[in-house]
Amino acid sequence: MRVLFVSAEIFPLAKTGGLADVSAALPQALVQGGMDVRLVLPAYPRALALATEKEIVAELPDATGSEPLRVIAARIPDSGLPVWLVDAPNLYDRPGTPYLDEAGCDWPDNARRFATFSRVAAKIALGEVDRDWHADVVHANDWHTGLLPLLIGQSTKERPPTIFTIHNLAYQGLFPHSVLPVIGLPDGLFTPDGVEYYGRVSFMKAGIRFSQAITTVSPSYAQEILTADYGCGLDGLLNLRRRDITGILNGVDYSIWDPAHDPHLPVSFDVGNMAGKLACKEELQRELGLTTDPAVPLVVWLSRITDQKMADVVARTLHRIFERDVQLAVLGDGEPALEAEFRDAAAHYPGRLAVRIGYREELAHRHLAGADLLLHPSRFEPCGLTPLYAMRYGAVPIVRHVGGMSDTIVDTTEWTAACGCATGFAFAQPNADALLDCLDRALAFYGQRSIWSRIQQRAMSRRFGWAEAAKRYSSLYRKLAPDTAAVIPERPPERLVPAKRMALVHETVGAPPRVKGLAADDPHQHVA
Ligand code: ADP
Ligand code: GLC
Repeated sequence: MRVLFVSAEIFPLAKTGGLADVSAALPQALVQGGMDVRLVLPAYPRALALATEKEIVAELPDATGSEPLRVIAARIPDSGLPVWLVDAPNLYDRPGTPYLDEAGCDWPDNARRFATFSRVAAKIALGEVDRDWHADVVHANDWHTGLLPLLIGQSTKERPPTIFTIHNLAYQGLFPHSVLPVIGLPDGLFTPDGVEYYGRVSFMKAGIRFSQAITTVSPSYAQEILTADYGCGLDGLLNLRRRDITGILNGVDYSIWDPAHDPHLPVSFDVGNMAGKLACKEELQRELGLTTDPAVPLVVWLSRITDQKMADVVARTLHRIFERDVQLAVLGDGEPALEAEFRDAAAHYPGRLAVRIGYREELAHRHLAGADLLLHPSRFEPCGLTPLYAMRYGAVPIVRHVGGMSDTIVDTTEWTAACGCATGFAFAQPNADALLDCLDRALAFYGQRSIWSRIQQRAMSRRFGWAEAAKRYSSLYRKLAPDTAAVIPERPPERLVPAKRMALVHETVGAPPRVKGLAADDPHQHVA
């Protein structure tokens, strides 16, 4: 079965959060299960620099932009998975993150950037770029690819079914009505049954509305998004499609996140050899300028600095946190005003508070290895990979029981501690008092060394591998495309397209699309 996996982030080519980790690891697990998976990513500068075996395979004149588009076939370093990079320098060759400029503001042309990305992905899926490869199933991720199910549905050719995975419903890709002609969509789509969302165009809504199946990244979040509290205004539509929604828990790539063989750590460790963890703690304290003290609990907050992660609550609770005998190491980036609050606070707690603002992949590994506890509160949490990574590193997570955190972290009580199933500490209300109560409970257990070791070892031994999730995605693909025979490759696929077969596609990328395929009675659509 040929799967086209389309994402705006793939580690290590582009990453701002967990989406990148999923987009790197899930395709590998699917390939191990016998699928022919190929990826699509915009050709950001870092992606072009890191991808290997690059070769231009198509040029697509762009009617709406000033420069032609190119499609570059390449491979992802390490995994060797094939990836098509959508190369439009006027859209993607920029500093900053995939979505924001260096000042942290959305790129003003994000609608065009990600509409173009989806248009090219649709062409690849339909076999218009590599004439020897078309998709049996298209797997789109988050709002950046929300138009893809719609665009594929408009094709008059044989259309592969699309799966749309919601990693985070709070980021919706909302744009003014006036963007429709810019992204080549007809005004007829600007209806409640189309892409209109409270007077704006929503890419997220398009993905939910026009895909054949919807998944999200944990069973609990799949339930929560059906409610007004967590549905971000899309709960009505999601309820209409509820029989097509599945919650599939993300996994952890233990080839990257494992202290037993992590190249970013000064010393390796594992259950049964915890001396290395102590050395990692001491080394981290030294690296961050904290007082080197093996006894004091070292708490780490490693996160995007956003409302989702209760960054405002953490920043404004620092003085209360430091009423306890703890050290805190902060590593994050996000809202500039909160970044400044964290930076300013560091001066008040020398030797006890270390703040590193920015995105530092290797340092993130060392934070988890050195920490006794990971502080990870969330207002909502679709899955939450960081606490799962932390568990493997023996950094016991303190989380709010919401979304994926409810599905993965077993709160410590006298009973769960006694039966050896506790893996962390959880609280219910999204406020400072609940967070501090939970921290106090954790610190009380930290003081009881033998119970603490059991909690830590249980957390380190829990496994959230990708194989199970890949099996569930595979059976969903097979359900959607039952006639496709699974091909089990004996070795990784060869180059995507040999140079001599380079396809020059002369269609106009920005041309107004046909609006066929949107009718409610179209068998390709399964909107309840
Ligand atoms: P989200 O996707 O909501 O940010 P996840 O916990 O699922 O949350 O994934 C976050 C990913 O980003 C993890 O791989 C985590 O290690 C990483 N991460 C977050 N902030 C930073 C940072 N400042 N530096 C390095 N890695 C970070
Ligand atoms: C999102 C969510 C996070 C999830 C990640 C990967 O960014 O916020 O909870 O783990 O996507 O699916």
